[in-house]
Amino acid sequence: MLDPERSIAWTDAALQSFAVRFEYPIYFTRHAFDPANPCLRQAIARLEPDKRHRLAVFVDDGVLLACPDLPASILRYARKQPASLEVAGDIVAVPGGEAVKNQHDCVEHVLRELSARRIDRQSCVMTVGGGAVLDAVGFAAAIFHRGVRHIRCPTTVLSQDDSGVGVKNGINAFGCKNLLGAFSPPFAVINDSAFLDALPDRDKRAGMAEAVKVALIRDAEFFGWLEQEADALARFAPNALDALVRRCALLHLRQITQGGDPFETGSARPLDYGHWSAHKLEMLTRNALRHGEAVAIGVALDARYSVLARLLREGDDARIGRLLRKLGFRLWDEALELRDAGGRRRVLAGLADFQEHLGGELTITLLEEIGRGVEVHDMDEALIEQAIRWLRTFSTARTH
Ligand SMILES: NC(=O)c1ccc[n+]([C@@H]2O[C@H](COP(=O)([O-])OP(=O)(O)OC[C@H]3O[C@@H](n4cnc5c(N)ncnc54)[C@H](O)[C@@H]3O)[C@@H](O)[C@H]2O)c1
Ligand SMILES: [Zn+2]
Repeated sequence: MLDPERSIAWTDAALQSFAVRFEYPIYFTRHAFDPANPCLRQAIARLEPDKRHRLAVFVDDGVLLACPDLPASILRYARKQPASLEVAGDIVAVPGGEAVKNQHDCVEHVLRELSARRIDRQSCVMTVGGGAVLDAVGFAAAIFHRGVRHIRCPTTVLSQDDSGVGVKNGINAFGCKNLLGAFSPPFAVINDSAFLDALPDRDKRAGMAEAVKVALIRDAEFFGWLEQEADALARFAPNALDALVRRCALLHLRQITQGGDPFETGSARPLDYGHWSAHKLEMLTRNALRHGEAVAIGVALDARYSVLARLLREGDDARIGRLLRKLGFRLWDEALELRDAGGRRRVLAGLADFQEHLGGELTITLLEEIGRGVEVHDMDEALIEQAIRWLRTFSTARTH
């Protein structure tokens, strides 16, 4: 169509198209900062093997408390590899847990430290910490110089089996979880199982909820394995925990690398089964519930809902709930009872938040069988109400 006065085609858009390939290694290792361990050296040198790389290091203060020798180990590691790496400036402690994602000056602080160290796009940022610290420092790394290399060393079960291996970073803002952030694949991920030894039981358990979740939507055999190993996992037996972390991480990665939508441009969040209520519960409890603890509740709630919606076989909901309880999760929190001024349960607002995050049609993953998720575009509030009541009873019922 032409503008008659200027003879310019109004609709003459020159569509541009290009693809960018992302690659990053995930190491499963133990004692990453033992000078004999090659993982970090290999990770840093993987694009320019003959260059000496500068490394800015950030460590979760909870990890520092549990592993006070860590900074000395990192510095010793670097000293033993003078040809390939150099730690730039002091190692920086970052507040651990959700606080780092709620206080925006933390991101600014990280950016200032990167600037002071003159970190460039061939230098590396390395973060050792839980999912919250990885998310916040990862966000800073993603926007500094429009994105610098970020090596993640996740130190919790949840960050090793889920958040730390993926492509998202972010912080909370205006009362909404992960409102600000960036899709930015890491340069490398080093999953060091020795960090899990230092982790409080509560955090060891929390990360298992993501394994139950991903098994439910993608892998029935893994779900069977979780049931079989539930006693060992509930005791945090290291071999069982290592196997859970590895399998869960690889399932998440399969979705990201082969699912066709790594940067979530569509309306679906296929890995977020059980998360619409979980994210809301985290906010409603002001993070008294850990992410994984809230996910366990959300997973059980949506399992019951799936039965009520006639998608999932009756009895599978109780089977899922039994596994979660056997792993030590509490499937009830009083925040589920909170109501707004109109008497509506506040957790229900999680559905709208979920939709808003992606835009487009509401898309929620439910279950059509154990091991297979199914997307729906509507949830019936009356059925959610019934599912919440069921959960309240189930959470304290004798299960065997
Ligand atoms: N980016 C993503 O794709 C993604 C996915 C899922 C979850 N997340 C985010 O991850 C966060 C939760 O992460 P998390 O479960 O790892 O918990 P966390 O980062 O909140 O850490 C929990 C606590 O454990 C401490 N800690 C960490 N490692 C330790 C260790 N080895 N020994 C002793 N203490 C240690 C921390 O200091 C903190 O106090 C949430 O903010 C959630 O939104 C992000
Ligand atoms: Zn999650």
